[in-house]
Amino acid sequence: MQIKNRIVRSATLEGLAEKYGYVSSRLIKFHEELARGGTGLIITGAAAVDPSGSGGPYQVRIDNESYLDGHRKLTNKIHEYSDIKIAIQLIHVGRQGYHPKYHPIAPSAVLYPITNIMPRVLRTDEVDQYIKMFVDASVNAYECGYDMVQLHGAHGYLLSNFLSPYTNKRNDIYGGDIENRVRFIIDIYNQTRDKLGKSFPIIIKSQINDFVPGGLEDDDGISIVEKLVETGFDGVEPSGGIGETPIITKQAYPSKFIKKPEDENYFLPLAKKLKPIMKNSALILVGGIKNPVSAEEILKNRWADFISMSRPLIYEPDLPKRWQEGDLTPAKCTSCNSCLETMGTGLYCVIRKKLEEKDSKNI
Ligand SMILES: Cc1cc2nc3c(=O)[nH]c(=O)nc-3n(C[C@H](O)[C@H](O)[C@H](O)COP(=O)(O)O)c2cc1C
Repeated sequence: MQIKNRIVRSATLEGLAEKYGYVSSRLIKFHEELARGGTGLIITGAAAVDPSGSGGPYQVRIDNESYLDGHRKLTNKIHEYSDIKIAIQLIHVGRQGYHPKYHPIAPSAVLYPITNIMPRVLRTDEVDQYIKMFVDASVNAYECGYDMVQLHGAHGYLLSNFLSPYTNKRNDIYGGDIENRVRFIIDIYNQTRDKLGKSFPIIIKSQINDFVPGGLEDDDGISIVEKLVETGFDGVEPSGGIGETPIITKQAYPSKFIKKPEDENYFLPLAKKLKPIMKNSALILVGGIKNPVSAEEILKNRWADFISMSRPLIYEPDLPKRWQEGDLTPAKCTSCNSCLETMGTGLYCVIRKKLEEKDSKNI
């Protein structure tokens, strides 16, 4: 697949859908801005594979026919921009769900302290049904013209609930050793391949470290990636942190915790460990990338195949274009995380908005 450049927009929940999960014109406009701004591969915010897997009314869904027209409009719009590709990220919120109608489900009964809800444990004979949700959603995505799908296998949602020894205490074929904990994801991959053939790229955001005691840690996280690569995943974007990890999770690391330049690309040391085991699978590095000079160094040294950004592109959707045109000042984003407050009901950069409001008052 030909992609305009090696810059990826990491999946970022937009909360810009129409109720309940329909692609809206404001969402299409939002993504068009990213395409115009020169991001080579746009990964959408997590889209739910089932109503029970959605995090809220404004989160995109792709679980039935009624949603597909909106997705087609979105992919068509992005494909008006030459060599810009769009992937959809697929999610079931699992243990971290909070829905008036659907009780959260999980591999095991481990209380989620943020909502204080004990999830219902999936029976072995139910697991197939949840695997099928991801397979069907991938087929829908393919039919709507997405260039690839990304499974959300990180941050404490259903797929990572299976990967982690903290949330997976099962003693059937989906629990226990790594082989069993990764089975759920590998089954999704294999069944999707059976339906869609070999050429449709399937990538994953994969949990490496939960940053909680008893959780997934780097060594097991790396072994999981090894299995995903062996299985055939076309790309892996390693990540970490779960819902109960305080805000200094590696998922969203605010600037005040960055003491030296090397802290900035905080998954880089991990990427260097992963690269030798990636074979033909692309390594997508996310986390704190804001400086074009170090981003270029990462790519030149082949420490990663793509660099991926979330928060910097909320502030500056035209950041890749700015860098390409020679303005190499780092991203204006300060990783303050205030965008996290807006993602449920319409994502924006709070700092940028405040500055714009101040400027308009000064005029
Ligand atoms: C507002 C917001 C929403 C996010 N939504 C998602 C999401 O839907 N799926 C996902 O995998 N990660 C999500 N993330 C995590 C980012 O993709 C990324 O991994 C993290 O922010 C680190 O990258 P950055 O330093 O470039 O922001 C989100 C992050 C933020 C700040």
